Amino acid sequence: MANSLQIGVLGAGRIGSLHTELLMTRVPGCTVAAVADVFPEPAEALAAKFGIPRVCSTLDELLSVDGLDAILVCSSTDTHEEAVCSAARRGIAVFCEKPLAVDIASIERMRSAVEQSDTILQVGFNRRFDPNYARLRTAIEGGEIGELHTVRLTSRDPEPPPIEYVRRSGGLFIDMMIHDLDMVRFLVGAEVSEIYTVAECRVDPAIAEAGDVDTAVVTLRFVDRTIATIENSRRAAFGYDQRAEIFGSGGNALTDNVYGNTAVLASESGIRRDVPLRFFLDRYIDSYVIELNAFASAVRNREAPAVDLIDGRESVVLAHAAKRSHETGLPVKLPEFRAAFGLSV
Ligand SMILES: NC(=O)c1ccc[n+]([C@@H]2O[C@H](COP(=O)([O-])OP(=O)(O)OC[C@H]3O[C@@H](n4cnc5c(N)ncnc54)[C@H](O)[C@@H]3O)[C@@H](O)[C@H]2O)c1
Repeated sequence: MANSLQIGVLGAGRIGSLHTELLMTRVPGCTVAAVADVFPEPAEALAAKFGIPRVCSTLDELLSVDGLDAILVCSSTDTHEEAVCSAARRGIAVFCEKPLAVDIASIERMRSAVEQSDTILQVGFNRRFDPNYARLRTAIEGGEIGELHTVRLTSRDPEPPPIEYVRRSGGLFIDMMIHDLDMVRFLVGAEVSEIYTVAECRVDPAIAEAGDVDTAVVTLRFVDRTIATIENSRRAAFGYDQRAEIFGSGGNALTDNVYGNTAVLASESGIRRDVPLRFFLDRYIDSYVIELNAFASAVRNREAPAVDLIDGRESVVLAHAAKRSHETGLPVKLPEFRAAFGLSV
């Protein structure tokens, strides 16, 4: 391993560009050695901006770059399996964006490739590294709110993604709620035993035409009897709405939205403040930096990753269970649901 970790980035879109910039500017001891995309323009523009020596047009070309220690899989979700399996087979460490895949069988093939290799895979659940949520987790772990009873997550986007993205990404449960499903598991520190969903299309009829919903409330029961609720919307008029509450026998803890300034304006007509930071690239910027530093450290020190493949798989299982509950109108028992895929946790 060279002094500086040599990293390849697959996918020069929204998240691939952000990760490349952060690796080059805010993750000491890392160098982006190559960037790859099926479309040359975004990859070339990114390489030019950050002085990256190689631009590749295929996964194979990227994985053949000399001395590569790790790749970041930031391409569309339906390309993750091939990238993860090919990198693992070559002993190259992988950071894979969420969701690992839409299909659980596909994730099982990734698991087998990673387990047979001498390398690691970290899943891109960046919100675990957000200092606000991380503080809620330490409050639970440290007994600061006594015995945990309930968790409430509110997670609303400022606007829906393009309809083509809705179709290709797996929809609200698998693409958007997946972050919240991972977050409740992370906060509670236990597995889910039952899930029940009520969902509608209230924001844009085109989303219903694409076979998806845009508004959902999910209730989860955990094996330790904690109860959690997740509320999602594809559009909050005031912007990106990301809040949480944990409540227990000894008290509660709340995290608020993050704002671009702390000014509160008071006049005789009322008291107001500006809307929260617009979207995830702003709101969660620190979490991405901490997440990438954690990945670099795991690769360098050959340690287990902070978010592993089983975390990635379980979030997808929960997303499918939430979708099944929406489709049937019935609660889904997780042990039976997992068993139908030949899984247990
Ligand atoms: N953790 C997060 O907060 C977060 C945020 C956004 C997206 N994501 C995830 O990251 C992934 C990418 O999302 P995005 O919003 O950046 O999408 P995007 O469409 O902006 O970018 C994807 C890029 O991948 C390229 N690509 C597609 N197939 C490829 C292939 N076979 N080889 C090389 N390049 C290929 C596309 O040309 C495009 O440039 C998705 O899995 C998404 O769920 C995670």
